[in-house]
Amino acid sequence: MDANDMGNDLKKVLLTEQQIQDRLAQMAEVIDKDYAGHEILLVGVLRGAVMVMADLARKLHTPVQMDWMAVSSYGSGTKSSGVVRILKDLDTDIKDRHVLIVEDIIDSGLTLSWLEANLRTRGCASLNIATLLRKPDAAKTNITPRYVGFDIPNEFVVGYGLDYAEKYRNLPFVGLLAPHVYEKH
Ligand code: XMP
Ligand code: MG
Repeated sequence: MDANDMGNDLKKVLLTEQQIQDRLAQMAEVIDKDYAGHEILLVGVLRGAVMVMADLARKLHTPVQMDWMAVSSYGSGTKSSGVVRILKDLDTDIKDRHVLIVEDIIDSGLTLSWLEANLRTRGCASLNIATLLRKPDAAKTNITPRYVGFDIPNEFVVGYGLDYAEKYRNLPFVGLLAPHVYEKH
């Protein structure tokens, strides 16, 4: 899918495919340095983190394993509440493992701060967070991801794994939706 398939649903491209791939390469270089001599267990948060996981993992030279979690955060509409339910847990025992959570976006941070606390109780050797996007103006927690791709404005974004009503995840770039898309609902 590309911008031509979106009709006039796209207001603006925020991050191009090239910008995303270049930034992920930089992040992978830093991660390789930080984890030299170790193996990493990458934990992707379904479904949004699928693209970040696929591209970041392929840029790493460090040996990795990949596992996935699915969580739902209860809340009204598009706002997360911080009350989180595990829909799919890890298949891996993370005790004594170096865990790196891979996320698409940190918005309020409530989902990830719950997830971080949950994983910490399982006795991993280390736990860090890599996120492609972060909205600093939306932060409601003091969660500190070690690796951040881009800080973005507090607006709803789609593409590169991120959806609106389950659509647009397969855009290779990150974009802002045109207001008329929201206003229909
Ligand atoms: P919190 O607020 O808990 O949100 O950090 C985490 C989850 O909410 C989703 N989210 C978005 N999805 N465009 C999206 O398509 C956005 O701008 C956006 N902001 C938050 C996302 O699933 C994230 O993991
Ligand atoms: Mg997500």
